[in-house]
Amino acid sequence: MAASTAFSLPHFARRSENERNIWRALPQIDEEELLWNWVRNEYSVSATVANLNNGSVSPQPRVVQEVFHHYTKEFNTIPSMYMWSEEDASRAVREQLALLAGCSPEEIAINRNTTEAVNTVIWGRNYSKGDEIILTEQDYTSVMNTWEEVEARYGVVLKWLSLALPAENDEEIVDAYTRAITDKTKVVMITHVNNINGNIVPVKKITTAVKNINPAIKVLVDGAHGFAHINFKISDLGCDYYATSLHKWLCAPFGTGMLYVKKSEIQQLWPLFTHENPQSDRISKFSTFGTRNLPAELAIARAIEFHNAIGIERKEARLRYLKNYWITSVADNPNVEIKTSLKPEYACALGSFSLRNRSDREVAQKLLKDYHIHLAQKGDKTGKFHGLRVTPHIYTKTEELDRFIQGVQDLSKT
Ligand SMILES: Cc1ncc(COP(=O)(O)O)c(C=O)c1O
Repeated sequence: MAASTAFSLPHFARRSENERNIWRALPQIDEEELLWNWVRNEYSVSATVANLNNGSVSPQPRVVQEVFHHYTKEFNTIPSMYMWSEEDASRAVREQLALLAGCSPEEIAINRNTTEAVNTVIWGRNYSKGDEIILTEQDYTSVMNTWEEVEARYGVVLKWLSLALPAENDEEIVDAYTRAITDKTKVVMITHVNNINGNIVPVKKITTAVKNINPAIKVLVDGAHGFAHINFKISDLGCDYYATSLHKWLCAPFGTGMLYVKKSEIQQLWPLFTHENPQSDRISKFSTFGTRNLPAELAIARAIEFHNAIGIERKEARLRYLKNYWITSVADNPNVEIKTSLKPEYACALGSFSLRNRSDREVAQKLLKDYHIHLAQKGDKTGKFHGLRVTPHIYTKTEELDRFIQGVQDLSKT
């Protein structure tokens, strides 16, 4: 059942035997139940509180923590000697990320999170008064705030769409974007998987439709919840920029993120932080934020190995199974309002609900206090949408979901 895998990353290969011992081989497990038990044991999560808010930030498997601690310890002997001398290892990490993303390492910049990646793109463009930007009221708050700042400073016009959640009709979603396009449209902002009810939107269809109308319109995708969660390749989406956080679904160290910029777009995008050649066509110009947390960045490689040991197809299927597990257990209850699609193409791990007899706030408080369940309370910009977001991860046990389900059933009684 268990077989050892070889380590293929260059920075693992060139380390001493002793150091290499900490890069434990990950087992290849075929049987479902054994696999998910093994996965659970690989995490050091709370045994008492069930964490159903992995959407905000995810824990790292032990192997990732170990590698991070190892580098931190090593770097602390003489930080300045290591900090700028790990180019091969850094490159190896970008190569692994590029393989996952289905693009060239020359299109991948490692940074700290989606927020930084989105800001790099938004502030990296030139704007004229009257330029139009298309976005939705269901995008992420700080992303909307950034665009509002651009509006205030440069006089761009924000054209707001509103998706009725759950949104389950590709044609309607694509039409909403294309109807908003005019000859002044410069950027279309798409949130791949939103943070409110976990709605997945058909990015490729939207991008294709937008580019068919005007190929000069740039498409920026907020993929905070897309990457390493659902199975796709960034290169297939046809977008110009893709921003993501690696501390969410990849379970890489906190404060690690990634920006994809299509090769042909790199030169004309200004870097957010100063660079000796801001109009360079090299992706490295987007990673010049000074002294960085290199141990965290190097440990991304270990998170990728862990992710690959499971495989994205199995991971996505498990995450969707867990979401469907709790939703189907409470959906018949007339006091439970389910706010997430059960169709596989419109949602995966993230789901949302409210109780008709209690406020979201009260339910969240009682679930934590009485059932030891941690989840997130969410709403959109307009207040039209609100709900309790439930996000299991691959280490979540069905017994934890059973406790959550029991809590929901109890609290639904008036
Ligand atoms: C859709 C979306 N975009 C952007 C972000 C920001 O991510 P980070 O805090 O990792 O920058 C989040 C965070 O949850 C998010 O859900």
